[in-house]
Amino acid sequence: MKIGVSGASGHLGKAVVAELMARGGGHDIVGISRTPEAVRSGAVRQHGDYDRPETLAEAYRGLDRLLIIPSSDTRPGLRDRHFVTAIDAAVAAGVGQIVMMSSAATRAVDAAEMFASYFTGEQHLMRTAPRWTILRMNYYAESFAQVAAMSLASGILAGLGESRVAFVSRDDVAVAAAGILLGEGHAGAIYGATGPAVVTGAERAALLADIAGKPMRFVVLDEAQLRRGMAQAGVPQQYVQAMIDIEKRFVAGDFDVVTGDVARLAGRFPRTLSDVLAKQLAALAPRSVPV
Ligand SMILES: NC(=O)c1ccc[n+]([C@@H]2O[C@H](COP(=O)([O-])OP(=O)(O)OC[C@H]3O[C@@H](n4cnc5c(N)ncnc54)[C@H](OP(=O)(O)O)[C@@H]3O)[C@@H](O)[C@H]2O)c1
Repeated sequence: MKIGVSGASGHLGKAVVAELMARGGGHDIVGISRTPEAVRSGAVRQHGDYDRPETLAEAYRGLDRLLIIPSSDTRPGLRDRHFVTAIDAAVAAGVGQIVMMSSAATRAVDAAEMFASYFTGEQHLMRTAPRWTILRMNYYAESFAQVAAMSLASGILAGLGESRVAFVSRDDVAVAAAGILLGEGHAGAIYGATGPAVVTGAERAALLADIAGKPMRFVVLDEAQLRRGMAQAGVPQQYVQAMIDIEKRFVAGDFDVVTGDVARLAGRFPRTLSDVLAKQLAALAPRSVPV
């Protein structure tokens, strides 16, 4: 088979390509992005830009299966357009099976919210693609580790309310996606890539305290306080709105979903938040975390 990964130069895309290559099977793996030189060697590197449909027509030609990974640019409307453009190009190119990387919390929400783009993409995929599969990722444990690292200095892990989240390792999402691309019987399925358990805010603070060896508290703030706190902690302004959107979805319970899909698709159990957190914090701040 000829299997394409659009967004192959990013963190998730690189991990998917690595897994596809590691599994062997004699497939041709095509890595597509605006910077194909950054795609892992061994894969066929193709230029493809979600803002230039003609490049996608060329990049997607002859593919049996394609994974569409969206850009991490959360400006309202941008990823909606990218999804539609990429799906249209894949359908026009006759790609046999289109797999879309989506997210937990996907629903019909105001267009300004970051989760609107996933809803637009999913709906368009279902309406136009002859064979499709959707993989909804829960919140990355690695992304939480970055937030956690910034909160260590203050001893406060803040949220807009208590929440239950099934944090998933990005590598587990990648291996599950590779399982879909290589497997059979996934047409028309919507899977959830989640960690093995939900973890509350208070439990997250306790985990952090344990790993960092210092007291940590989970504190509920209002939106204005949380925005100020993020700015003080050094969160770049363009990510603050996205993190507020995510926090609201956390509190609403939209990430309170545990499935067995990673184990089934990846053939291994998903990593725990504790495991990812310990390793990520050690890598992010080797001198302040005694692990
Ligand atoms: N669930 C979560 O907790 C969570 C956390 C973080 C991120 N995410 C989402 O997960 C997805 C993958 O994350 P990631 O960490 O792999 O992101 P990433 O490293 O930023 O990778 C994004 C990929 O999209 C490609 N891309 C961006 N703009 C493009 C365009 N106009 N045309 C073609 N390709 C384009 C990039 O390649 P080039 O720039 O080379 O074109 C890159 O390969 C993103 O949508 C991100 O928002 C989810």
